[in-house]
Amino acid sequence: EASETFYDAVGGADTFADLTRRFYAEVARDEILRPLYPEDDLEGAERRLRMFLEQYWGGPRTYSDERGHPRLRMRHQPFRIGVMERDAWLRCMHTAIASIGDDRLDADHRRALVDYMEMAAQSMVNSPL
Ligand code: HEM
Repeated sequence: EASETFYDAVGGADTFADLTRRFYAEVARDEILRPLYPEDDLEGAERRLRMFLEQYWGGPRTYSDERGHPRLRMRHQPFRIGVMERDAWLRCMHTAIASIGDDRLDADHRRALVDYMEMAAQSMVNSPL
C-alpha cells in the first residue's frame, strides 16, 4: 500500500525493539562505547534510541512526547565523539541490522537503514580525534 510507513513495512514495534536490544547488547561489550554510558543502566538509553528511531521512521511519536525536539547533536555534546566512537557505534549498529532477517528487512529497506545510520553517526562527530 502506497501510504504504508517504513516503520510498518519492516515489522513495526517488534523490529525496532529487536534492533535496539541487539545494538545495546553490542554496546555493553564494547570497550570504547560502554564507558560513555551510566555504569548501572543501559536500559534508559536503549529505550530512548528505540523511541527516537520508531518516530523517525514513521511510527509512534512517543519520543517527542517524552523528550521534546530531538536536537540530537546538542544532546551528544557532553560526550566526546571522534571517528573511533563513530566507528564503534556503527559497528554495533551494523551487527544489529544484520541480525534482522530478510523476511522483515528486504534489500532496499536494509540499504535505507544503513545509509541513514552512517549519515546520522557522521553528523554526531564533535571531536577531531
Ligand atoms: C543518547 C552516544 C550516535 C541517538 C546517547 C548517549 C550516549 C550516546 C552516551 C546518552 C545515553 C542516554 O540516552 O542517556 C553516542 C555515540 C554515537 C552516537 C558515541 C556515535 C556516533 C547516535 C546516532 C543516533 C543517536 C547516530 C541516532 C540515529 C541517540 C538518542 C539518544 C542518544 C535518541 C537519547 C537522547 C535523549 O533523548 O536524551 N548517545 N551516540 N546516537 N543517542 Fe547517541
